[in-house]
This record gives sequence, structure tokens and C-alpha cells, in this order.
Amino acid sequence: MNNNTFVHKYIRPLIKKTDTVVDMTAGNGNDTLFLSGLAGEVLAFDISPEAIRRSKEKLKDTDNVQFINDNHIHLDRYLKKKIRLFLFNLGYLPNSDETRITKAKETLIAFKKAYDFLEDRGYIVITFYIGHKGGKEEYYLLKDYIEEKRLHICETYRQYKIDAPITYIIRKDQFNTSL
Ligand SMILES: C[S@@+](CC[C@H](N)C(=O)[O-])C[C@H]1O[C@@H](n2cnc3c(N)ncnc32)[C@H](O)[C@@H]1O
Repeated sequence: MNNNTFVHKYIRPLIKKTDTVVDMTAGNGNDTLFLSGLAGEVLAFDISPEAIRRSKEKLKDTDNVQFINDNHIHLDRYLKKKIRLFLFNLGYLPNSDETRITKAKETLIAFKKAYDFLEDRGYIVITFYIGHKGGKEEYYLLKDYIEEKRLHICETYRQYKIDAPITYIIRKDQFNTSL
């Protein structure tokens, strides 16, 4: 099973129609479409106008998604309430501009802000592509931070292949309500 299949399987039972969730990297809109079928409301960020265009096209028959063409480090400018789940699917838009890739330091900023917006027992699901340029640095920066802060890691997932992507499922619990 690839990481996307794992992620969808894991989060399906976690989200209700009353929840607000955030796709931090809309890309081609596959994850956004999945989240839109589960949650009451979805916010979907992407820094790339092409990604927002592709995602809007994919979600043209839905009415519960707000698209935000901005760097996800600015999420606090847009969020008005607590969030049930943030989904980060890092890297770049397939078949597009590979320079618009997530960057380690920015991803850490976005992760910290996302954690603050999580409701109690809310989730951050994050997939790292360590085979991409800068992907290993991004993974180790976030991994070290998660371990240093002793965040609750519910699950990690990785296929048995060289440079396979790595997924972390993090839950905010009562011992770690703020960073
Ligand atoms: C692997 S793709 C996401 C795939 C997507 N979840 C899907 O289901 O198709 C990663 C996306 O992150 C976007 N991205 C990179 N840096 C970003 C940033 N700082 N803020 C928001 N989006 C960013 C890229 O433009 C790209 O579309």
C-alpha cells in the first residue's frame, strides 16, 4: 500500500461532517477531494496557482472547500476556528514547477502554527518525500522537533523501499496542548 492509501485509510474514521479540516498542500486536489467527502468544511492551501487551478477543476462539483493560493506559513491569516485535522503532503506538484517545493524551515513554521490551531485530540498527518531535493533535511528537522517536544506519534508508515516516503500521524493530547 502506498502512503496516500495508508493516509486515507487511517483518517477516514477520524473525520465527521461537523469537522473543519485543512489540506496544507492541495497539489492536484486528490487529498482535498477525499477530505471534502468526509468533513463539513475544508480549507485547501497551495503556493502554486497551477495547483489551485487543477484542484478547483477536480472539485468543481463540491461546495465545502475554500481554496487559498498562498504559502501555508500564513495559515493564521485565514483560520478562524479550531481544526480537527491538518494534512501535509510535502514536496512539489507532479508534472509542474519543481522549484515550488516545500522547504524545511517553512514547513516547521507551518507545522507549529497548525499544532496551535488543532482542537484537543486533533491530528496532523504529514508525509515526507526523502527522495526529493531537500527532502531528507526537511524530514530530519521535523522529526527532531516532534521528538524534542515529545509530541504524541500515533503511527508512522513507510514502504520497504529505498528513499520511500515517510508518514507521521501526530495527535494533540492533554500533555502537549501548546508548543
Ligand atoms: C506532493 S504535492 C501535493 C499533492 C496533493 N496533496 C494531491 O493530493 O494531489 C505538494 C504541493 O505542495 C505545494 N507547496 C509547496 N510549498 C508550499 C507552501 N509553502 N505552501 C503551500 N503549498 C506549497 C506545491 O505547490 C505542491 O502542489
